[in-house]
Amino acid sequence: MLRGIAFFTDSHAHEEVTVFDTTLRDGEQTPGIAFTFEQKLEIARQLANIGVHVIEAGFPASSIAEKETVAAIKKLGLRANICGLARSVKADVDACLDCDVDMVHVFIPTSDIQRENTINKTREEVLVITDEIIHYVRDHVNQCMFSPMDATRTDGDYLLEVCRTAAHAGATIINIPDTVGVCSPSGMKTLITRIAHNVNCPLDVHCHNDFGLAVANTIAAVEAGVSQVQVTINGLGERAGNADLAQTVMIMESIYGIRTGIKKERLVETSRLVSRFSGITIPPTQPVVGENVFSHESGIHSHGVIKCTETFEPGIMTPEMVGHRRRLTLGKHVGRHAVRQMLSDAHLEPSDAQLDVIVEKVKAIANRGKRVTEADLYEISDSTMGIELNHKMFDLQDIAIMTGNHMIPTASVKAQVNNKEHVFSAVGNGPVDAALKAILGIVPARIQLKEFNIEAIAGGSDAMCHVTIAVEDEHGHIFDASGSGDDIVLSSVEALVNAINLINRAQ
Ligand code: KIV
Ligand code: ZN
Repeated sequence: MLRGIAFFTDSHAHEEVTVFDTTLRDGEQTPGIAFTFEQKLEIARQLANIGVHVIEAGFPASSIAEKETVAAIKKLGLRANICGLARSVKADVDACLDCDVDMVHVFIPTSDIQRENTINKTREEVLVITDEIIHYVRDHVNQCMFSPMDATRTDGDYLLEVCRTAAHAGATIINIPDTVGVCSPSGMKTLITRIAHNVNCPLDVHCHNDFGLAVANTIAAVEAGVSQVQVTINGLGERAGNADLAQTVMIMESIYGIRTGIKKERLVETSRLVSRFSGITIPPTQPVVGENVFSHESGIHSHGVIKCTETFEPGIMTPEMVGHRRRLTLGKHVGRHAVRQMLSDAHLEPSDAQLDVIVEKVKAIANRGKRVTEADLYEISDSTMGIELNHKMFDLQDIAIMTGNHMIPTASVKAQVNNKEHVFSAVGNGPVDAALKAILGIVPARIQLKEFNIEAIAGGSDAMCHVTIAVEDEHGHIFDASGSGDDIVLSSVEALVNAINLINRAQ
């Protein structure tokens, strides 16, 4: 079963582990995040489409709006089971039942510190409440998940007693939460092993990331035999967040050979959707989905990857597997092999001397802290190799954009396309969207905007901005281009026009 490199002999891991996603519940508790109703429905659809088994859609008792959202998600009739969270009180469970959920997830604090300071109940009272609330849930719905909150800081013998009570009362699965993220992977493995040996109920795990151990602890719990993992997209969640879905799934699938049923090729797309809705950008170095995961800049690495991709990539996880793409990037570490390969892909064959000059120019720009795109590379190469391009296929002549608080942002564009004048107008969600749609409306070929990134070069409202985009042509090839200036809309337009001319040139 094991496919990667893991040094252990005593695994109790299941061959299949199911995925419980709590992006819409714990993820939404990330400070500063509030998904809209439509966004929550869209995320739920996406989660079901990629094969998540259980979606924790929210905490219905927390507000009327939350209850309406959970009910609406259930009404979508998705392939995933829909779960609602409830404190161990009947009113909370009733709120879940009103939403017609498939599973109710009841929790109660069990560590002394949380029990005494949040619900002020004795250990014995918690056992009684656990027993009663699970019976109540099971009288109304088939699936009941029970969580002894702060399990990892709960006295071990008492935790076993709580879990046995829950199993006896009818819990269909017991979740072991590392609520404040203080467990170590070996501690988690010992804890789960002990519970698994002493409690007759399937187990699930929910790890917080306060020390950056959420994914490692989740995997340790899988090694010890949990049959389900709780995760969120992009690791969203309270404080430092929860275990990240993409990382947890890829470790299970690629390293351990455990089946999860998740459509891995949609992981990047899902991460980007949630990043857009949450406003939390994905760091380039984020495992699995980050921009840099399959990017190679340094000479030695690019050279190796050009010869054999597995030299400097895991191999058991490829860009295709997770819906990513491999890129040779141009920066201060770029080597001759990578530049030659990129130019050769565009049918440019510089002499050795010309190549040296091109590489030096690329490094010089990169050393000034600027990202060098393919469009920049071709311009440098054209001038170094003395190639004269007769004309640019897309020559922007005029652009006018109107926006305001009482109007739909509208853009009108006049451009020469292959020396013929075209005019087009479009509306959009904002001025950038309208401008880009107006330009794409003129281009004869089908071009899709795949990525759009904007960064301010310095603080302040007069900051310079740098826009980088990736577009896909009708053959599925991706092209990067950029634009910069002091106007966000015009910099975005410049990036798109550069990309269009780049595609035309490649063709
Ligand atoms: O972190 C936690 O303990 C929780 C529970 C509600 C499971 O989110
Ligand atoms: Zn949590």
